[in-house]
Amino acid sequence: MTTLPVDSIDTSAARRYTTVAIVLHWVIAAAIAFQLIGGKWMVSAGAAATGSVFTVFQIHKTVGLTILALTLARIIWRVANPAPALPEGMSRFERLAASVTHLGFYAFLIAVPLSGWAMASVSPTGVPTFFLLLESLPFAHLPLLGDAGLTERHTAEAFLKGVHDNLALAMGLLIALHIAAALKHQFIAKDNLIARMLISARTAPNSIAKASVAGLAAAASLMFLIGGIAWGINQTVSYQTASTEPNVTQSDAPAPDGAWVINHEASTLGFTITYTGNAVEGSIGSWTGDVVFDPEDLGNASAAITVDMTSVTLGDATLQAQSSGGDGFDLANHATATYQADGFDRMDDGGFIANGTLTLRGTTVDVPLTFTFDEADGSATVVGQGSLNRLDFGIGAVGAANEAWLLYDVSIAFQIFATRP
Ligand code: HEM
Repeated sequence: MTTLPVDSIDTSAARRYTTVAIVLHWVIAAAIAFQLIGGKWMVSAGAAATGSVFTVFQIHKTVGLTILALTLARIIWRVANPAPALPEGMSRFERLAASVTHLGFYAFLIAVPLSGWAMASVSPTGVPTFFLLLESLPFAHLPLLGDAGLTERHTAEAFLKGVHDNLALAMGLLIALHIAAALKHQFIAKDNLIARMLISARTAPNSIAKASVAGLAAAASLMFLIGGIAWGINQTVSYQTASTEPNVTQSDAPAPDGAWVINHEASTLGFTITYTGNAVEGSIGSWTGDVVFDPEDLGNASAAITVDMTSVTLGDATLQAQSSGGDGFDLANHATATYQADGFDRMDDGGFIANGTLTLRGTTVDVPLTFTFDEADGSATVVGQGSLNRLDFGIGAVGAANEAWLLYDVSIAFQIFATRP
């Protein structure tokens, strides 16, 4: 190949990409580097250790969809503004390699974000994509798999994860090749080819026609993003944040004789689960209870607690987002959980045990709770705990069937303040 002296290269406007193409090239290049490095870090233990996995995933998805939108703009621009001719000194092989690489880039720039978007859309967890991290701007999920069950969704998600990962890897390799070629041109062929992709003071101002195409490309890219958000707001996503208003109200039925009056403001019901090695607290905002309890008359003691599962708040945003879907609490079908105990025993240490059952997600399982009961001047303080296995209730049975990131054991803790009626 002929090596041209640097100052003989024509870097005039005709030999350069347009300013719009150059800006799009470098913005997309920076975003891709961020996605490739950030994506790998995001799925690593390092990201989990920060406790901000939810935020990191949301940023990744927002940047990825923005790349898709900018690629759309770039294709429109490219069709209207063909690339400048390659330097004459390039061999036929180099020209072919350049064309194949450029076409490959467009294919990856569409396929990589699309595969990520498809993966997030089929996921059984139903975690939405909050554009720019704003809960008021959920980006649409692709309408894939319709009413498919959780297992099918889980299988599809795992497959698409592999596709997304491998496509991203292949794009990374192509980028390495692309950079190597640019370096070769710069330092071996010394033809200053990179100047074609650099903005220069000598670049001719855009004509009106060019400005119109730039406007069209920008509009297409914005329409993609705004349309996706509008569609997302419309889409019924299974995701639901914990309600602040109590949905479970004390039933109109009279409380059983001797039932304690619970001070809900002061009392707490909660649980702890271990997620990616960290203890995550869950608290229940809205619940009611009919409790009859006299330490001297355990035979007549009873407790009926009803919990509004939509009022559960978790101390981790990823878990919170995943908890409402079909593989979590399945709020669409089971918005309440109940605990019913009619058998109470005194323990050797002076405490008590309630031999009750918990009905959660439509499944009833024995969950004994131990507690202490202290009464003074007609006011009682009850402090108790228990534990359950989330899989007994089918929680995470599809997406977290083992303990890799979510342990089975859930410990329950409660503190109840009540007065005699
Ligand atoms: C050009 C844009 C994108 C690039 C270069 C990119 C790159 C990556 C990379 C390198 C990973 C790590 C893969 C692994 O090692 O397992 C990843 C993971 C992921 N990406 Fe993307 N991504 C892009 C766009 C998107 C989009 C648009 C979405 C969704 C809307 C998305 C969703 C995800 C998700 C959910 C994961 C985590 C998968 C897992 O849990 O293992 N990505 N991405």
